[in-house]
Amino acid sequence: MKIAVIGTGYVGLVTGTCLAETGNDVLCIDIDKNKVEQMQSGKVPIYEPHLDVLFERNIKANRLKFSTSLEEGLEHGDIVFLALPTPEDEDGSADLKYILGVANQIGKLIKGYKVIVDKSTVPVGTSEKVKAAIAKNATVDFDVVSNPEFLREGFAVDDFLKPERIVVGSSSEKAIKLMEKLYKPYVRSGNPIIVMDEKSAELTKYASNAFLAAKITFMNEIANFCEKVGADVDKVRIGMGTDSRIGKRFLFPGIGYGGSCFPKDVKALHKSGKDSNYNFQILDAVINVNARQKLVLIPKIENHFNNNLKGKNIAVWGLAFKPETDDIREAPALYMIDSLLESGANITAFDPEAMPNVKRKLGDKIKYADGMYNALENADALVICTEWSIFRTPDIDKMKANMQNNIIFDGRNLYDVKDIENEGFTYISIGR
Ligand code: UDX
Repeated sequence: MKIAVIGTGYVGLVTGTCLAETGNDVLCIDIDKNKVEQMQSGKVPIYEPHLDVLFERNIKANRLKFSTSLEEGLEHGDIVFLALPTPEDEDGSADLKYILGVANQIGKLIKGYKVIVDKSTVPVGTSEKVKAAIAKNATVDFDVVSNPEFLREGFAVDDFLKPERIVVGSSSEKAIKLMEKLYKPYVRSGNPIIVMDEKSAELTKYASNAFLAAKITFMNEIANFCEKVGADVDKVRIGMGTDSRIGKRFLFPGIGYGGSCFPKDVKALHKSGKDSNYNFQILDAVINVNARQKLVLIPKIENHFNNNLKGKNIAVWGLAFKPETDDIREAPALYMIDSLLESGANITAFDPEAMPNVKRKLGDKIKYADGMYNALENADALVICTEWSIFRTPDIDKMKANMQNNIIFDGRNLYDVKDIENEGFTYISIGR
């Protein structure tokens, strides 16, 4: 099938590449000329496992092309995906300026029937707005479909190629048939394509992300309570997770959720509620508890150093908001670092992928180590913020040789408490 993808951010690029992988003829459009040139020369502009292999293969096969021309995209694609940013507005709502900006141009440019697919995370009712914006100038028939993505960074290629479900929101039989045909190769395992109305599809995305954020936040509160009463959150987590109604996943406590989706989506759903005169009390709590949780280790660190962090050398392992990504948006590590810097500590950080992004943001406010052990040189303490695999089984002797004090504040519960204490470390983690 002939597909256009407007916007080559994280979602657009994964969508375009993975649609090419099953034989579709995909043209990706972006207004950023440099980025388009970079992609045309075969370079993937983001870090996402396995994307580079698929990217190269499909460019070689001439199934994946790039352009800056929206007109070309709309001429090429029978199905046109909008994968445009919906940044957080000052009041917490999702800003639709990019989506509606493009929708306003589509009507003039389409010359035959098109299915316009909204892949971005957008508030309930957006497909109606997109439809109206296109209809203003359109002289041909078109349909607008809401098709939210459920891609996890770090697993996006796998999530796209083998989705647990695909949600298609549309009231047009013709558009639904085309979407089912497009996605058939991805659900051979029998996973469903769930068809519903546009508004329900839009809300499904927000409800899923807000639910997962609430699930994590609930466990973070249980972990904090475990510390008060001397229980072990790891045991509680396993005890709870074996109930299939609860499930084992997304029960890991830590220093809060971050990233480009959960924080933004929870706030946007909360704001949508307000706009419709509905007060999402549970989301209020999720937002507030998560903000507190990002700094939950700070009082423990201060306490350990008698409220004097001035001149203390703190090593930080992990800067990305989670492993397998270089994304630092809303990363708990950055909140931790800000607070530690304010207290006068010196920070030396290491992250396998995210350091260039942090350098651009923090510059020389902190030091960047070229290896995880180098970050520990003369450290008074190590703070772990992201659970990269390489941090899970470190060389303990190397750690001790480099550190001044054998103390670890672990925001991701990487080690068995007894084991690491037996190695001679003071170990402070979450809920244990
Ligand atoms: C999420 C959704 O999972 C995905 O379906 C959606 O489309 C986009 O948002 P992503 O932001 O890539 O994906 O990351 P995810 O793996 O879901 O983790 C989100 C945050 O929750 C991370 O900060 C992670 O560290 C945190 N988390 C996750 C926990 O603190 N505990 C857990 O048990 C799971």
